[in-house]
Amino acid sequence: MRALVTGGAGFIGSHLCHRLLELGHEVVVLDNFFSGSRANLRAIAEHVRIVEGDVRDLATVEVCAAGCEVVFHEAAIVSVPFSVERPQESHDVNIQGTLNVLQAARRAGTKRLVFASSAAIYGEEPTLPKSEGMRPEPMSPYGVEKITGEHYLATWSRLFGLETVALRYFNVFGPRQDPKSAYSGVISIFVDRILGGRPITFFGDGSQCRDFVYVANVIDANILAATRDGVSGRAFNVACGKRTTLLELATLIERAAGVTVARSFTDARAGDIKDSLADIARAARDLGYAPGVGVEEGLKRLVDHVRTA
Ligand code: UD1
Repeated sequence: MRALVTGGAGFIGSHLCHRLLELGHEVVVLDNFFSGSRANLRAIAEHVRIVEGDVRDLATVEVCAAGCEVVFHEAAIVSVPFSVERPQESHDVNIQGTLNVLQAARRAGTKRLVFASSAAIYGEEPTLPKSEGMRPEPMSPYGVEKITGEHYLATWSRLFGLETVALRYFNVFGPRQDPKSAYSGVISIFVDRILGGRPITFFGDGSQCRDFVYVANVIDANILAATRDGVSGRAFNVACGKRTTLLELATLIERAAGVTVARSFTDARAGDIKDSLADIARAARDLGYAPGVGVEEGLKRLVDHVRTA
């Protein structure tokens, strides 16, 4: 089949492109290289069609979607703080961009659209684990944008018969996640610091927990979401279903790296949620999803990758 991956040069999108090629599919990438990079696609550049363009431009998305049976919509401005500082730009990319992808997919006769949603849609809801039946309570523009995208998808599924699936990513980590950006995930930062023998800083006392999920599992979930029957119009958590505190995380990375570094503690980050954990029972039951790579194994793979890169 032919698949369009919007945001295909990004962290998750580029892993998806690699997997789709391995599975023998034809791949079209649409990326504006705002946060994605050509280096992420270097190994497969000759085998994919890369279009430099923006999801805000409907005509460009239509050109890319033509002839695609499946669209994976990974393109987004993925930062909560950015969405607070620049809500209009975040809105334009994350909501208008998603609407454009839906319109283009419908016109192209695409069978199914898989959308990268986020745990951010749960927001303030304190109950753990978070399950899909809970009421979304986003507390950032980013969370509002992702739940809006989900509503648009479900509506397109009902109105026009386009099959849609939303995947609510929790804390995804793995190779090619940029440790240098102001919006980098904690694992990419800690791995970078620990391998460099530099100290790490905990925002708060380090007892907060997250449901970290290795990127290969997220790609598995995307492939299942694109191919399983009976899942259209729905949303699924994508995580490990296990909690790891930040203190435990640091120790696991130090163990994988064989390096111990100094630790310091500072104020908790404003707006942070304390704890996060996913219920992945729905994804397991209806998608057949199982996180094959656990957190410890994923950290080992990441450390090895960064070391040899
Ligand atoms: C993550 C997602 C975000 C999503 C949100 C949904 C990432 C990169 N971000 O944010 O897109 O919307 O979940 O809930 O996956 N920390 C430190 N020291 C550091 C860096 C971070 O202690 O040097 C702490 C943070 O304060 C936080 C935890 O580590 O408590 C995780 O932070 P981060 O990786 O930025 O992810 P989330 O805030 O969970």
